[in-house]
Amino acid sequence: MPAFTATAPGKIILFGEHAVVYGQPAIAVPVRQVQARAVVQALPGEKAGRVHIQAPAIQVDARLEDLPPGHPLPATVSETLKELQIERLPACSIRITSTIPVAAGLGSGAAVSVALIRALSAFLGCPLPDERVSAVAYEIEKLHHGTPSGIDNTVITYARPVYFVRQQTLQTLALPAPFTLVIADTGVPSPTSLAVGDVRRLWQAQRGYYDPLFEAIGGLARAARHALESGQPELLGRLMDANHTLLQQLTVSSPELDRLVSAARKAGASGAKLSGGGRGGNMIALVGADRAPAVSAALLDAGAVRTIITQVAP
Ligand code: PMV
Repeated sequence: MPAFTATAPGKIILFGEHAVVYGQPAIAVPVRQVQARAVVQALPGEKAGRVHIQAPAIQVDARLEDLPPGHPLPATVSETLKELQIERLPACSIRITSTIPVAAGLGSGAAVSVALIRALSAFLGCPLPDERVSAVAYEIEKLHHGTPSGIDNTVITYARPVYFVRQQTLQTLALPAPFTLVIADTGVPSPTSLAVGDVRRLWQAQRGYYDPLFEAIGGLARAARHALESGQPELLGRLMDANHTLLQQLTVSSPELDRLVSAARKAGASGAKLSGGGRGGNMIALVGADRAPAVSAALLDAGAVRTIITQVAP
């Protein structure tokens, strides 16, 4: 029996997190050094509907029906079946593995969904096109946190740099000049839903203060798009620094993130900011390729638990 395997990369948000939930543009890029993988294999001789699922990273080794209601893995299976208008899975085993750190702003949840939707739909003989994969993954994102912008499922499904505006058609970004980022993990897990919920409460209480912050962040994302498309990624550093300040004002930075951001700048990064939901998780620093190892070492010295050096290219 052949196994059906699919993978999906991690992602990082360069500009516009949080403001993107409120209609502002954001820019995100895939991170291919980390990925989620799903493998689906038929279990011949077993009854239809018998599904065994393993996801060692989150201690899952169970029959699908025994997972608690609302668990994202059975939800992904049932949303995929719904999309394909198939009532029940043939007996099969599903194995999910991932090298993407969980709750760290690298898109682990969306990447698992995308890999699983692809492997399952291929196993069922009707591989879904990217547009549908992203739409099904978006339904699962809503379970992780109620008001996702859709940026994670989009950048991860298409595995291309994207300029994302909520509810608008996909815009991929051409990047004439590649650039290097150091991504550093504070090691503080931070579920996106909490930060997004807190920002929503603050915004509801004081729209007059928070709307201009969102607009200013949107302005930075637009300026960053221009810098990228005109082949001037060196201009991103200043924009990242400004975006980090605005994210601090949104209350989503943390002492650990601020420490890593200033350590990166001191070590020669041309700009740095938190990335993703904030409060913990990852930050990013823009570096000249030759400075990347030194900035990475400085980030580890300043308390990062892991760094990834990644080249962003078209
Ligand atoms: O924490 P992450 O990388 O999954 O990013 C969340 C980005 C937010 O803008 C905070 C939320 C969203 O749905 O866009």
